[in-house]
This record gives sequence, structure tokens and C-alpha cells, in this order.
Amino acid sequence: MSYKVLIEPTGHEFTVEPGEAVLTAALRHGLILPYSCRSGTCGACMGKVVSGEVTYPEGRPEALSDTEEAVGQALFCQAQPNTDLSIEVRELREAGELTPRTMPTRVVRIEDLAHDVRRLWLKLPQNERLQYLAGQYIDVLLRDGRRRGFSLANPPHDDELLEVHVRHVPGGEFTGYVFNELKEKALLRIEGPLGTFSLDEESDRPIIMLAGGTGFAPIKAMVEHAIYVGIQRPIHIYWGVRARRDLYLDGLPRRWASEHDHIHYVPVLSEPRPDDRWEGRVGLVHNVLLQDIPVLSRYEVYAAGPPAMIAAARRDLVAHGLPEDRFFYDAFEYSR
Ligand code: FES
Repeated sequence: MSYKVLIEPTGHEFTVEPGEAVLTAALRHGLILPYSCRSGTCGACMGKVVSGEVTYPEGRPEALSDTEEAVGQALFCQAQPNTDLSIEVRELREAGELTPRTMPTRVVRIEDLAHDVRRLWLKLPQNERLQYLAGQYIDVLLRDGRRRGFSLANPPHDDELLEVHVRHVPGGEFTGYVFNELKEKALLRIEGPLGTFSLDEESDRPIIMLAGGTGFAPIKAMVEHAIYVGIQRPIHIYWGVRARRDLYLDGLPRRWASEHDHIHYVPVLSEPRPDDRWEGRVGLVHNVLLQDIPVLSRYEVYAAGPPAMIAAARRDLVAHGLPEDRFFYDAFEYSR
């Protein structure tokens, strides 16, 4: 049977399904409890059981001592309720509360998504997970101390691997390496999570997601997270690229829109090629959005793309009534 859990001191409540760990259920409800390894070895998810009883079907995890257990401490990544619970644990509210860490990752899969976009899947060392919020990014640390930033494209609940989308920048040293030399099994050192771009889950405003090029990556993470935690606010996704071949995962937002009534997707090309036979929308992505929704006072906007796109969108959307503090953005130069 399922059990109710009350978090103190915030008063948030959620339900844990049979066989589910407390932490997994909290994340599924959009509540962010601290964690790291998710395997019972690091202790980062420790909190107190104030009332009720938990059990560890896999045996008591190694990061929980007898003494800690005796005074009511629990490791919520492994603990499953035996009864309804009240627990005391720090709840994180903002991306800035997560401390970045440096760690090695292994490239386990490389996929070509478009003529100039590759998707890399990175695996963390055994018993390590990276806690992050949808919208945040990691830096890849190069040998000479320089770094290259990439948004995480998978949602935090699905954190077995890290997904990044790399666009090939002509003459770019690192992206040239990714396209010409990088092989599966290579090691990349990363630091993360970084940045404060994340979804305001307390808000009830309808959401507009504005992506330019591989700015689709953090938008993908946010939408997948929103679907996972059951956010039912309308979500309008506008994805702007040059030509049809640049819509490198077009089928995915189309699927979200066909499976969820509250999700809408509009791809926009700025320079369609003659062989694109494009009958969809054309122009700058934020101008197309303004044609559809000319008054934005009720909305909030999450925008990810190159700085020039973000600056123009911000200026024009605010002029159309969007409150300035409801424009959240991740402006990035393409990593070279
Ligand atoms: Fe490491 Fe639970 S997250 S012990």
C-alpha cells in the first residue's frame, strides 16, 4: 500500500508508492531533497524520521551507522516507509543551493542528431549521481584549465547518465575534438551543476519555452521534468532554428504535444532552404510567438539561446506586457 509523508518544517506532503524510496517519491512530486549517490553510500540524503517507521529492503545502507539509526536518522534514497511518516529534512528551493562538484565522467554513447549536433551521454563513477535542477548546466574541464559549458538535456529524475547536446562550431577546438576525435569510453572531467536557470514550480502562470538552436537542451530537461512531476499549466514551446535540418529532435516535442493537451509546440525556421518544402512558421522565433500571443502579462517565459536572441526577446516580450521578473533565461555563446 502507499504511505503519506509529511516534511517538516515546510509542511509539504507526498505519497510513496509500494516499493518506492522516500527520496524517489519526493522527487516525483517536484520536492527537492538533497542527495548525491542514490545508492546508500554517501550519506547526503540523511534526515530524521520524526514519527513512523522505515525499512531497508536491501539491508541497512553502509552510510548509516547503528547509532544514527538508533536516534531516528534515515537515508531517504534507500528508506521505504512501513507506515505514514513525518520526516525532518532540508528541502532545497533554488538551483543556487546546490553545491557544484568536480568529477570524471565516461562518454558511453555518441549520437549524431543533425549535421552539426551530437548528443553525448556521460556516465558518472559508480555510486555517484549529480543532483541538479532541470535547466542547469555543467562545464567540461579541459586539460589546460579552460572550460566549456553545456546544458543538461535530461531531467534530474532520469540521472543514470547525463545528456548534453554539442553543436559543432567551425574552428572550435573542443567541439572540433568532439566531432573528429572523441570516441566512446573517453573520459571527460566535468564540474556542475552550474547556473540558476530553472522552473518556478510554485507559480501558476502559463509557461512559454523559447529555444534557439541547441538552447533546446535545457528546455527539453524542463519539459520532461514538468511532465514527470505532473505540472498541468499550459506549456507553449517555440523552437527557432535556421533550416529544417537544424530541428534535430523535432519528433520529441511533437510527441509531447500529441500526448498532452496542455503542451503546444511551434517550430520556427529563420532561413528555410528551398528543399525544406517548409509550410510552417518562418521568422525570428520570438516574433512568431508575439504573433500568436501578443499580450504576455499573464505568462512566464523560459528562454535559452544565443545572447543576441535572448536580448531581443527580452526587450520585445517585456514591451508586450511580460513582467520583467517573469523572463527567465540562459544566454550562452556556443561553446567552441
Ligand atoms: Fe548517498 Fe543516499 S544519496 S546515501
